[in-house]
Amino acid sequence: MDALAVICKRRSVRDYTGESIPREDLETIVDAARLAPSGHNNQPWEFIVITDPTMIQQLKVAAQWMEKAGAIIAVVMDPESRWWVEDGSAAVTTMLLAATALGYGSCWLEGNTLSREEKFKSLLGIPDDKRLLTLVPVGVPLRWPTKEKKSLAEVIHWERYGQ
Ligand SMILES: Cc1cc2nc3c(=O)[nH]c(=O)nc-3n(C[C@H](O)[C@H](O)[C@H](O)COP(=O)(O)O)c2cc1C
Repeated sequence: MDALAVICKRRSVRDYTGESIPREDLETIVDAARLAPSGHNNQPWEFIVITDPTMIQQLKVAAQWMEKAGAIIAVVMDPESRWWVEDGSAAVTTMLLAATALGYGSCWLEGNTLSREEKFKSLLGIPDDKRLLTLVPVGVPLRWPTKEKKSLAEVIHWERYGQ
């Protein structure tokens, strides 16, 4: 699939078969994330790939449907780095696209993660001075959702706003 086709195909997938994911595919997904752009090329990210079903069970308090994910990737950021939220967001987006390119479903799970950040940091052994930006479940999709998107005409302006 070419890059534009992957971008068009990507959706947040929350229904998985429960199948496991080969280690090399998970490495490919994280490898893509580490190549994302970052302010001053700071690359203030680290990634924890979680495949242990016991740990996945503990993390699923954030979203029940995560229990069928083949893996969950925790995105760990250094908040001392000036653009850590933007940098982490670029890494997550790249990860979602890489997962899509490999045929996996994935989802950015931040809203349900941040309120449990301290609990999850403790579970995953993340140092106090780091932040857990989000969890990204990855799985073999049961179905591929559709999602209403704004049309190009609604969001594009040429030369000046309103034109
Ligand atoms: C910053 C951010 C936080 C998100 N947090 C959650 C979340 O906590 N739970 C969830 O199910 N989806 C979450 N999502 C996924 C969005 O719901 C999803 O991207 C949006 O509905 C558009 O659908 P699409 O990804 O299929 O295009 C999050 C997405 C972003 C960018």
